[in-house]
Amino acid sequence: MRIIGTGSVLPETTVTNDMLSQFLETDDEWISSRTGIKTRQVVTNESFEELSAKAVMAAVEDSNINLEDIDLFICSSTMSPYLTPAFSCVVSEILGLNCRCFDINAGCSGFISALEIANSYLKSDSATRVLILCAENMTRMVDWTDRSTCVLFGDGIGAVIVDAEDSFLSITSGRYDNGDSLVMKSPGGNSPFMPKDEDNHYLVMKGRDVFKKAIEAINHDLKKAVFESKVMIEKINHFLLHQANLRIIASAAKSLKVPIKKFRNNISNRGNTSSASVPILIDELNKSGLLKQGDIIAMAVFGAGFLSGASVFKWAK
Ligand code: ACO
Repeated sequence: MRIIGTGSVLPETTVTNDMLSQFLETDDEWISSRTGIKTRQVVTNESFEELSAKAVMAAVEDSNINLEDIDLFICSSTMSPYLTPAFSCVVSEILGLNCRCFDINAGCSGFISALEIANSYLKSDSATRVLILCAENMTRMVDWTDRSTCVLFGDGIGAVIVDAEDSFLSITSGRYDNGDSLVMKSPGGNSPFMPKDEDNHYLVMKGRDVFKKAIEAINHDLKKAVFESKVMIEKINHFLLHQANLRIIASAAKSLKVPIKKFRNNISNRGNTSSASVPILIDELNKSGLLKQGDIIAMAVFGAGFLSGASVFKWAK
């Protein structure tokens, strides 16, 4: 598998930490020092599906292929405006794309899960060019009166297109016990046969538990992916981690004894965009010319489930 093109789209509206402190008991000092986040983008009156279609078209253009060349479309989405049809169908409808498509929900780890699935299709010759869209409308998910969660997230969309050339050196994923550390229940409906729904339908998170498990999982998965890639860790040019917290990224750099400057990040102005965070980062690095042909990239993701994963690949666009 090889990444042949990338695209991303962020909503126009930027929300600063100071804007949040106007309606929450919080401040820029707390948010930036605990998380590294300064601003995030949020959907206001835009159509999330139109923004997602634009991200796909940006990836198609970057790949130098035609939309019709895509024969499988996998969408990773923890939260979109639709429960049904699958968000991949909604975006396909806008684009006039009629290949097979389906959604996965692997939380913030969805990008690696989608890559693993794409890899299997490509390896078995069941697809030739796969579109992966990570579309995350996280600001619909959080309780905007809960300062411990809503300050962390932003909306964003990242897309990549992969083909069957050989540039992935390793890919791994797994699951850790989640308990009730990171949960959002779906609305219970009004079935007369079920007890009255009294659940909270926002994202509920035990931040410290998630923090500890994220560090454990990322360190474990990154070390495994680097070992399996047979690449010396010093030869890796860029480390791209799920953008949830700058302190989690710093801890991984310390544990792997890799200079922090190799850990590219955009968390300060994107916040946590769930599964879209790594593909958005890849697109930003790609478009800014920071990724050179032959560069070795290691990535690691972590999220609800707890699901985690990592991969090492060569930039060979
Ligand atoms: N502003 C001010 N104070 C706050 C805020 C806020 N926004 N949020 C919480 N606090 C308070 C708490 O109420 C608590 O006060 P108390 O001591 O009086 O009870 C205090 O700050 C400390 O709270 P902690 O939760 O212990 O703070 P911590 O240093 O652990 O930082 C944080 C919290 C940033 C959430 C951290 O635990 C973290 O990053 N966890 C990982 C979260 C994460 O990565 N989530 C996403 C992964 S999965 C996914 O992407 C969906």
